[in-house]
Amino acid sequence: MKYLVTGAAGFIGSAVVERLCAMGHEVVGIDNLNDYYEVSLKQARLARIAHPQFTFIELDLADRDGIANLFAEQQFTRVIHLAAQAGVRYSIDNPMAYADSNLVGHLTILEGCRHNKVEHLVYASSSSVYGLNQKMPFDTADSVDHPISLYAATKKSNELMAHTYSHLYGVPTTGLRFFTVYGPWGRPDMALFKFTNAIMEGKTIDVYNNGDMRRDFTYIDDIVEGIIRIQAVIPEKNSDWTVESGSPATSSAPYRVYNIGHGSPVKLMDFIEALEEALGMEAKKNFMPMQPGDVYATYADTQDLFAATDYQPAVKVKEGVQAFVDWYRAYYQR
Ligand SMILES: NC(=O)c1ccc[n+]([C@@H]2O[C@H](COP(=O)([O-])OP(=O)(O)OC[C@H]3O[C@@H](n4cnc5c(N)ncnc54)[C@H](O)[C@@H]3O)[C@@H](O)[C@H]2O)c1
Repeated sequence: MKYLVTGAAGFIGSAVVERLCAMGHEVVGIDNLNDYYEVSLKQARLARIAHPQFTFIELDLADRDGIANLFAEQQFTRVIHLAAQAGVRYSIDNPMAYADSNLVGHLTILEGCRHNKVEHLVYASSSSVYGLNQKMPFDTADSVDHPISLYAATKKSNELMAHTYSHLYGVPTTGLRFFTVYGPWGRPDMALFKFTNAIMEGKTIDVYNNGDMRRDFTYIDDIVEGIIRIQAVIPEKNSDWTVESGSPATSSAPYRVYNIGHGSPVKLMDFIEALEEALGMEAKKNFMPMQPGDVYATYADTQDLFAATDYQPAVKVKEGVQAFVDWYRAYYQR
């Protein structure tokens, strides 16, 4: 099959491309290689893939003609849309980057799928859509109408836009709400990366909400396995579904939304301890209050994903953090 993977130079996108190529598929990857974080890492991820079945095209999602032409020329079977302006804190100072990449960019991909009869669009949403929700675990059957960052609002918008295209044009869409993904080739703006840098340089790490935070850390291999399995499960119309009787994660249209996370929360302090152990170094900690836009706990109910794919994320934090540290030391030669 022929796949389009957007965000192919990104953390999750590059891992998905690698896996699809290994499965024997033809893959076109796009990415605008923006400098939100070190571009050299994005290039290194691409260099690592370098597979004969893989073609990389530098392209911006918001380039309407460029994306429309790409879809028309390539005639993709399925699309895995992972490119986005990520990060919660960055959206406080750079809101327009989210409008361009996450709103306009999502629409260009939906339009491409609509006009070229793409069999299935799988796209990245985020656990941040749960915003003010406090009921744990976070469940896709709950309403998510109270985001607390612009990033989260764009991700929720992605789900709404996808539903419209599933309903109006019959485009099968699956949204995946990722819960804090970590592992080798990860993102330098995320806590694990920042903590590792700081500890190795003997600097103090900021521990938000005095360490009283819980995250559903999900190892990259578990995420890739989940994506690969769910992209093969194409949503179908369900004429029995009604707003009153059905879950918001499903529809009468060929539309689904799933949580994709480990399914068990880990205390931030336990995560830091696992890192200290893997590095063989102790962290100097600066305990800080909660930051605006941050969420106290994220913990996924993953039953629906498990039912649909027969797969439950399995990698434990200690193992995953060790794999990250091994990669980090080799990549940065430290
Ligand atoms: N990593 C996580 O913990 C996490 C959690 C929740 C949601 N997500 C979502 O998953 C997806 C992948 O995340 P990631 O961690 O791999 O992030 P990433 O930043 O490493 O990857 C995203 C890639 O998209 C590219 N990109 C951004 N804007 C673009 C544009 N306008 N045109 C073309 N390319 C563009 C970037 O250059 C980057 O390489 C994103 O949609 C993100 O919002 C990730």
